Amino acid sequence: MKKFYITTAIDYANGKPHLGHAYEKVLTDVIARSRRMMGEEVHFLTGLDEHGQKVQQTARNRGIEPIELCDEAARDFQALCRDLEISNDDFIRTTEDRHKRVVRQILQKLYDEGQIYKAEYTGHYSTRVEQFLRERDRNEDGEWPDEYGEVVEITESNYFFKLGAYQDWLIGFLNDNPDFIFPRFRQKQVLEFLKDPINDLCISRPVERLAWGIPLPFDEEYVTYVWFDALVNYISAVGYGEERFEDYWPADFHVIGKDILVPPHAVYWPIMLKAAGVPLPRAILAHGWWLKSGQKMAKSTGNIVDPLDLIGEFGPDAFRYFVTREMNVGQDSNFSLDLFLSRYNSDLANDLGNLVSRTLNMIGRYCDGTVPGASIEGEPESELRALWEETRTGSAELYAEMQFHAALDKTFAFIRAINRYAEQRSPWKLAKSADPEDRRIVETALATMAEGVRLSVALLKPVMPGTADRVCGLLGMTGVREWEKDLTWSAVLEENRTAPSEILFPRPKSELSGS
Ligand code: ME8
Ligand code: MG
Repeated sequence: MKKFYITTAIDYANGKPHLGHAYEKVLTDVIARSRRMMGEEVHFLTGLDEHGQKVQQTARNRGIEPIELCDEAARDFQALCRDLEISNDDFIRTTEDRHKRVVRQILQKLYDEGQIYKAEYTGHYSTRVEQFLRERDRNEDGEWPDEYGEVVEITESNYFFKLGAYQDWLIGFLNDNPDFIFPRFRQKQVLEFLKDPINDLCISRPVERLAWGIPLPFDEEYVTYVWFDALVNYISAVGYGEERFEDYWPADFHVIGKDILVPPHAVYWPIMLKAAGVPLPRAILAHGWWLKSGQKMAKSTGNIVDPLDLIGEFGPDAFRYFVTREMNVGQDSNFSLDLFLSRYNSDLANDLGNLVSRTLNMIGRYCDGTVPGASIEGEPESELRALWEETRTGSAELYAEMQFHAALDKTFAFIRAINRYAEQRSPWKLAKSADPEDRRIVETALATMAEGVRLSVALLKPVMPGTADRVCGLLGMTGVREWEKDLTWSAVLEENRTAPSEILFPRPKSELSGS
């Protein structure tokens, strides 16, 4: 059976992980985990982009070998995945043989078919973005925009891939497949870019200028241009050229940031695949950027608080919740510590954390730690159940539309409704009553609260996997596995032994809270 295959960008090995990297992995993980909950077989790939001038330069500046720098980065980025409980099935490094082999195979094929030629070329190269720039990329005053860093003019003989020959085909493809790129307005930007003729792509670098790359199979004096190399990771990691490739490819989603959509993922990659006779991925999801006071949070911008410190301080789920809740996928979003703390305190500690602890406390105190049965259905119960049905179907739609922030908003509206329901029924006021009718209300209220908690965490599982499992454990069940079953209002908890209450989201302990 074809797997649901999803990828992130592969991160440059010359820098440290930052909020943007963490966000992209969490976003992709939320999609991967939700697909698993929907019963699909998922293959989730992430990895590291290890070749190119930036890595060579950074290693030189530090007086180490490029591979040492890459090994260090691989440890850092893999640790990030672990710390964030990212459920990736594979982690590819572009220095691995399985990758280099496929890059060379694709190059040889294109070369044999006459789709690659050699020519002399003069152009302006930006190492920061690892791209030759076009004249129209200049500012009005003729200077190069700051985002390109140092730009140098280079004249050299190189190999070129006949990108331009596919321009009309690509325009036709995008017009025929308006949902290829999410969100849709990004696809329009690609078509805008394609209004001007595109140049053939320089896919080589002379070894004297760049030694840290994959040698061209047909000319060892050159190494492969890093973008041509990096993009191929999406197929090299899943066995291009082997039988098993069909089980994965085409990818269902490439998740990337908006800065690397045009031209690498929306122009180079579809054309490379088309030229090599490989089907195109089904969709590309281009997310927005995390900004801080209107500035990009790239690795060069020193920030007072490193947002990644929040993972250690508050746990992976709080971080995952925050970035998913605050980002409308496709748009940019501002990061601030105040916003993080306010989400943590109000949504997680107050709404969810308190609900779980009061539910467990009362089941412990009034029902000997065994989930009671619900024997009455009054208006408060039916209202809450109706809200659940709406929450469940609404969230499914929002997941399908990539509106994860809105899905979370809905789930927390339900969580707050359970808290209001608890106030309405106030089981603590009736707990000592000898009237059997009061007893039935107490039991119904606690059963309803417990079931509400179970359903909420089932829905939250892709975003907060650790919390979901922990709460299930406290409720005496093994965990959430399949939405099909686990999102149905039921009596599965009845007679479960519950654990003593725990504080899920403790108040911040360090100086981080002092804002
Ligand atoms: O571009 N907010 O690597 P990279 C959100 N190696 N996302 C951000 C971000 C921010 N502030 N900063 C970066 C590369 N990203 C290439 C990719 S893929 C075959 C090769 C995202 O380490 C960025 O958009 O610069 C990209 O998707 C990812 O982090 C890696 O960026
Ligand atoms: Mg970048």
